[in-house]
Amino acid sequence: MQTKRSKIVDLLQAEPPLAEVRVKGWVRTIRVGKQVTFIELNDGSCMGNLQVIVAPETPDYEAITHTTTGSALEVVGELVASPAKGQRVELKAATVAIIGLADPSFPLQKKRHGFEFLREQAHLRARTNTFGAVFRVRSVLAQAIHEFFAQRGFVYVHTPIITASDTEGAGEMFRVTTLDVGAPPRTEAGAVDDNQDFFAKPTYLTVSGQLNAETFAMGLSDVYTFGPTFRAENSNTSRHVAEFWMIEPEMAWADLDDDCELAEAFVKHLLRAALERAGEDLSFFDKRIDKGLIARLEQVAAADFARITYTEAVELLQKSGQKFEYPVAWGKNLQAEHERYITETAIGRPTFVVDYPKEIKAFYMRRNDDQKTVAAMDLLVPKIGELIGGSQREERLDVLEQIIAEDPGLSAEDYWWYLDTRRFGTAPHAGFGLGFERLVMYATGMENIRDVLPFPRTPRHCEF
Ligand code: 4AD
Ligand code: MG
Repeated sequence: MQTKRSKIVDLLQAEPPLAEVRVKGWVRTIRVGKQVTFIELNDGSCMGNLQVIVAPETPDYEAITHTTTGSALEVVGELVASPAKGQRVELKAATVAIIGLADPSFPLQKKRHGFEFLREQAHLRARTNTFGAVFRVRSVLAQAIHEFFAQRGFVYVHTPIITASDTEGAGEMFRVTTLDVGAPPRTEAGAVDDNQDFFAKPTYLTVSGQLNAETFAMGLSDVYTFGPTFRAENSNTSRHVAEFWMIEPEMAWADLDDDCELAEAFVKHLLRAALERAGEDLSFFDKRIDKGLIARLEQVAAADFARITYTEAVELLQKSGQKFEYPVAWGKNLQAEHERYITETAIGRPTFVVDYPKEIKAFYMRRNDDQKTVAAMDLLVPKIGELIGGSQREERLDVLEQIIAEDPGLSAEDYWWYLDTRRFGTAPHAGFGLGFERLVMYATGMENIRDVLPFPRTPRHCEF
């Protein structure tokens, strides 16, 4: 029987000698020497390459020496201690099979490539050190998310992706339709006849699973959803994409303090998981992308997060003496530059800003007794700005009905099911949304959100 394929991550840690091992991977570099040929092989199981030594007696030696960078190989041989510096073990090839020869035009040659160039080669960039590391860390974090909630007895709920409601009320939704956009059916009055659309009404890709998650929290108490969300925001920043993943826990019997506590424990758990399980990849980022990353993550995993009110944040910004591009005034949104000043310069650690003016937050947030602010929280972190947005929810039926009635963009008819949860056994509850890509940026030091999604979707970009 054939020996099974070994992963390079295991071989690099194995005790040599191992008589017969089989590896499969892609050529990172090949160097044809006078005596032997050296091939650096990578299979994505870890950052490191396995050095393969091919002697001239090897069958098909001539063809092997013509292997190109990027080619897929299968090598069988003996794993031995490496006599040379640079690697602990190496593979003395007995046979090398060329599974897939790469055309010499393979765009990822040995030199370092800029991230912008690699975005145009997103289908190949998993073959590079940086992107291999980004997506291994992303995977570790995704698993740690489920682990965190499982440990706390949260039920994982799959909220729908197609929806009729605009949770955030920002009107930034992608339309989902089966109508012929060139020649849609019309009503007698000439408007597009949505009644003939697939769902007999206008539908969209969801911006958030929250409203649905809330209804489940009103029965299962602690729930979370983790799925793709969509925003047709026409902003070309390093922190916004049109399709991103969000983790949204929702807890019954919880207020804003409980919400902040959960968020803090969550972020710390995730950073610790990355430090423990993706150490090699984080070391790479620490060296090559963001010096001091590991020390910072360790510090954050141990630190107490700060908490200030929106009103305090505005005062702090006004007294800072800083020149900001956007004006600071009570009632205005905090811009990224303000958020970063607060968490990076003024406070120097992750900071919850709570109790925002009701006018700049979504309708579902619980009205505070001052009638001016709502029980909202944003978690700001250095280098990223807003990582989490959340709130205690308005659980009082009369107050919520009033809010919906006063907002010309909302109608009680559309939200009948959401209001029902307040009508039939309402209870205080709170939750938040963490933008998964922003977390991956935070954990890796990568500076552009386009480089932490396998295939980023941004205005005018939907290749691959
Ligand atoms: O603050 P947001 O809009 O909050 C909500 O959607 C709530 N319904 C969440 C809840 O309470 N259940 O979005 C939450 C997070 C932001 O803090 C940010 O990290 C991320 O989602 N986010 C984006 N990430 C990438 N690209 C975008 N366009 C994003 N918009 C929001
Ligand atoms: Mg927000």
